[in-house]
Amino acid sequence: MTERLSAAQLDRAASLLRDGALVAFPTETVYGLGGDATSDRAVATIFAAKGRPSFNPLIVHVADLAAAEALADFDGRARDLARRFWPGPLTFVLKRSAASPISRLASAGLETVALRAPAHPLAQALLRAVGRPLAAPSANRSGHVSPTTADHVLDELGGRIAAVLGGGACRVGIESTVVDLSRPQATLLRPGGVPREQLESVLGRLADAGDTAAPRSPGMLERHYAPARPLRLDATSVAPDEALLAFGAPLPGAAATVNLSPTRDLTEAAANLFAALRTLDQPRFATIAVMPIPETGLGAAINDRLRRAARGRAN
Ligand code: TXA
Ligand code: MG
Repeated sequence: MTERLSAAQLDRAASLLRDGALVAFPTETVYGLGGDATSDRAVATIFAAKGRPSFNPLIVHVADLAAAEALADFDGRARDLARRFWPGPLTFVLKRSAASPISRLASAGLETVALRAPAHPLAQALLRAVGRPLAAPSANRSGHVSPTTADHVLDELGGRIAAVLGGGACRVGIESTVVDLSRPQATLLRPGGVPREQLESVLGRLADAGDTAAPRSPGMLERHYAPARPLRLDATSVAPDEALLAFGAPLPGAAATVNLSPTRDLTEAAANLFAALRTLDQPRFATIAVMPIPETGLGAAINDRLRRAARGRAN
């Protein structure tokens, strides 16, 4: 059962989140499906609850600029924008800082991370009570529209998440504007709550995700981490010069093995995926052999990511 919590029960919401459970909460744009952004396991549970067929990078929510600066590399541009528009409906894509504690799964293995400080008072109070960044995509099932009331959230995710913190209807009602500041040319990735003109008055002209000058169009074509080693999928045996990415009882004879989940738990496997690929991506291995993973539940997203990586392209 999903608990329905009022503002007076904020501490309960915060302790659920610190324990790795999922709690939906109001922001001024739409309700977010929150989980501890520093926990691969909590983030994997978000993907499972949403029923996402692939791992899109998630927005990480923080209380303010000071909290954000611990997670990503801010330049003058990003700081100016944050001072002007945060807290508010604006998300920055920035390079992860070297010591960023954000789950690799939350940023879908990318070297960047999306950050936003929401203005809704309950979101602010929750972030401060939890004391950790919260990964939160819109709190709907994959492919459905974003929820703007606690009842919408219960319709979409009731029974799949621990709780929803009720905070009335969302003021803005459309998602945040997403702007990529990880490269010299600032690029508008998603129009949203802060109008483009307001950003351009600070940044000058923004490139569009669809421009040929723009490096990519995330949301449609995100660059994900792909190992330099070739991947061999659905392996049923393994050579002595190969690394093994195992699932369940490992095949014998590999040069090295990382097990995504000895008990064949797909949520655990998703949580471990990107870190495991990085661990095994070493020149001393000829290939990374990957054991078969079922196509059910989060298995579909894991296989989607592995197939892209195996094709030798990062998109
Ligand atoms: O208003 C909002 O932004 C809501 C509330 C809950 O904050 N959140 C939201 O999250 O809409 P979500 O996961 O539904 O959308 C995240 C968007 C996607 O378009 C995704 O591709 C983009 O942000 N994004 C996230 N991380 C990214 C990254 N590292 N690089 C490029 N795009 C990224
Ligand atoms: Mg969404």
